[in-house]
Amino acid sequence: MKEFIIIGHKAVTTPFSLNDLPGAAGRMDILCRCVNSALFLSHDLRRGVRVYLVLKGGAQSKIVRFDGAAVRYLSPDERSAASLIKKALEKQAQGFWTESTPGVSIKIGDFSDLLGELNKKITYLREDGVDIRIKPLEVVSDFLFVLGDHMGLTDDEEKIIEAHDHEIVSVGPLSLHADHCIVLLHNEMDRQDAFNTSNK
Ligand SMILES: C[S@@+](CC[C@H](N)C(=O)[O-])C[C@H]1O[C@@H](n2cnc3c(N)ncnc32)[C@H](O)[C@@H]1O
Repeated sequence: MKEFIIIGHKAVTTPFSLNDLPGAAGRMDILCRCVNSALFLSHDLRRGVRVYLVLKGGAQSKIVRFDGAAVRYLSPDERSAASLIKKALEKQAQGFWTESTPGVSIKIGDFSDLLGELNKKITYLREDGVDIRIKPLEVVSDFLFVLGDHMGLTDDEEKIIEAHDHEIVSVGPLSLHADHCIVLLHNEMDRQDAFNTSNK
């Protein structure tokens, strides 16, 4: 399983207009692009991937989960992902996962709760991390990646990561959009998988 957490510091936690994802919805556009980059192949989905969006732009933080194995009604455009997030926010979120549409679930919770729930080594994406071409990603089947939005991660969020088993990695020398980092990570893992399969 490859899991991605993206933190949306301004992303709203109540239903929003699909016509203003960057503004009124609190940079929901960034999160939608991350969903698409994490889940879509050409004419297929990456079924072994889950994406967690931590929405922090409301009174109470909420988490929306997309599960590549079960998701339906998602097409590769921002508006489609946004519409499923909006539907999730129309649900009465609880402290446990509630499915809003097939493969999309929501719960009340914050970043720290989520890391506790997933309980695995974190690979934190940061511009000054160790370049994955210098120290390649470990060959494991279970990854948990954490990325920031346009604001990166706060010091408090970094402290939460530091309390867990973690590594800090970079996908190159420039600061990129989070969704582009996800594509690069997938590409690296796809190549490793293909190499390992052909050398079996
Ligand atoms: C647009 S960047 C954040 C911008 C910047 N950190 C800031 O101070 O506002 C969004 C996220 O993509 C990831 N990221 C961007 N470039 C990266 C790189 N070269 N290597 C690893 N992660 C990167 C980080 O997780 C970052 O938080």
